Amino acid sequence: MAEVAVVVLDQPAGETPAARAFLPLLLPLLLMLLVLLRHLGSSRGERSKVPPSPPALPLVGHAHLVGALPHVSLRDLAARHGGEDGLMMLRLGTVPTLVASSPRAAQLVLRAHDRSFASRPRSASGDVLMYGPSDIALAPYGEWWRQAKKLVSTHLLSANKVGLLINKIRGLAETRAALDLSKLLTNFMNDMVCRAVAGQSFRVEGREKNFYPGLAKLAGGVLVSPTRRKAKKVRDRWDELLDKLIDEHANEDGDEESDFIHVLLSVQEEFGLIRDNIKAILIDMLAAGTDNKYLVLEFAMAELMLHQDAMAKLQHEVRSVAQDHQNGIDEDSLTGMTYLRAVVKETLRLHPPSPFLLPHLSVEDCDVGTYTIPAGTTVLVNAWAIGRDPRLWDAAEEFMPERFVHGEDTEADDFRGNNLRFLPFGSGRRMCPGINFSLASIEILLANLVYHFDWELPEGQVNIDMTEVYGLTVRRKEKLVLTPRIRMTCCKH
Ligand code: HEM
Repeated sequence: MAEVAVVVLDQPAGETPAARAFLPLLLPLLLMLLVLLRHLGSSRGERSKVPPSPPALPLVGHAHLVGALPHVSLRDLAARHGGEDGLMMLRLGTVPTLVASSPRAAQLVLRAHDRSFASRPRSASGDVLMYGPSDIALAPYGEWWRQAKKLVSTHLLSANKVGLLINKIRGLAETRAALDLSKLLTNFMNDMVCRAVAGQSFRVEGREKNFYPGLAKLAGGVLVSPTRRKAKKVRDRWDELLDKLIDEHANEDGDEESDFIHVLLSVQEEFGLIRDNIKAILIDMLAAGTDNKYLVLEFAMAELMLHQDAMAKLQHEVRSVAQDHQNGIDEDSLTGMTYLRAVVKETLRLHPPSPFLLPHLSVEDCDVGTYTIPAGTTVLVNAWAIGRDPRLWDAAEEFMPERFVHGEDTEADDFRGNNLRFLPFGSGRRMCPGINFSLASIEILLANLVYHFDWELPEGQVNIDMTEVYGLTVRRKEKLVLTPRIRMTCCKH
């Protein structure tokens, strides 16, 4: 062996018999290597056309990085790994997910390329819960969604029976006991929305036991999907009640259109609605109408309790604008209550009930800035992160309603989808159709709560825990318990 090696080393390259045999193969091999390198180079180039991502694990991708408060963890991930434009690509299990965490990124997906990102991801549980889905919020982009949204946007009714709630709180205030404001507000919002949708309160009739909580818990949020079996259980509960309500409405005499079920039945033929469509739309209205509004009110009251200067300003405004309204405040007396509107806006900035809006889905490959986003990508817009970005807001983490009263930037006032740094209702085609319906009732209720009562923490309690939990919406973990004191309306002369 040693002899052979010496011989080989002694001969010039290419002149050994082995090398002579190998030479004809060398050229094709080199060519193949060149092609392979070029291919690798180009696919690396293509990969760089997708927004940057954090390092992923096999199979789970980035799912392990999401955590219990996804709006917080995805904001932090985007700050470390996202592109300068606020776009970051994740893979949650097998699902490619684009996260938009800046006004520029939101502008690209919700406005500039609105149509390409206007669909919704499908899930087995969503299909079961929403009959297809044939509601609006989860419906894929297309003709059905367009028609149904038009229907809802033109016929949403408002029914503000605030007086009933104030009387109830007054009764409780006389006992000087602390009251569970969270429960009171949820029940009230349930009643209010049920009356607008179905002309009656399910709760008063004792039919809604665990009705809404069931859906809220089950829906589990953008990043957690319930099992099909659980979804079916909750759907069956809705189903029975909705059938009964629709039958009752269909059997009524006359052609009155006093609630939303009347409206849906009256346009049933024109819009080609089958019963499942009606039920799915009703579920959207009942679920969206109750939860969001109650959460905003609860957060507003909690922030006001933590910021007594803001509470005092609000009470001063409401009580002086409405001093002639002994029986409370109606819609007309809201005009001119600029601080009230500012408090609601500031609450929506810090605590948007849907921190990621609802997930969007790309229906086609789309060039977004310098990237190409493939069809079938889920898109999450982190409205919560944008609303708290210190590069966009002064003292971003502070509750400061004044920013919406004296704001130099009048654009900041807009939360109807034109100002991409303030998106509690979304923007573009899939934007919330319930803005006016919500604002009117939130403002009236908040104004009445602070007009009629002074609020205190229960004895022995010195702070309010603002810890959040993530589910279908983001809510406070602890219920809000406060003591109302009836305000003395007669004055000393
Ligand atoms: C404070 C109250 C509310 C807030 C903060 C809110 C917020 C939102 C958000 C963020 C979206 C998703 C937008 C997107 O995906 O781009 C949405 C969609 C929707 N909201 Fe609201 N919402 C509220 C109240 C309501 C009410 C009262 C109703 C109806 C009674 C309603 C009905 C809907 C519907 C049907 C959609 C789906 C729209 C679509 O997919 O085209 N919302 N809402």
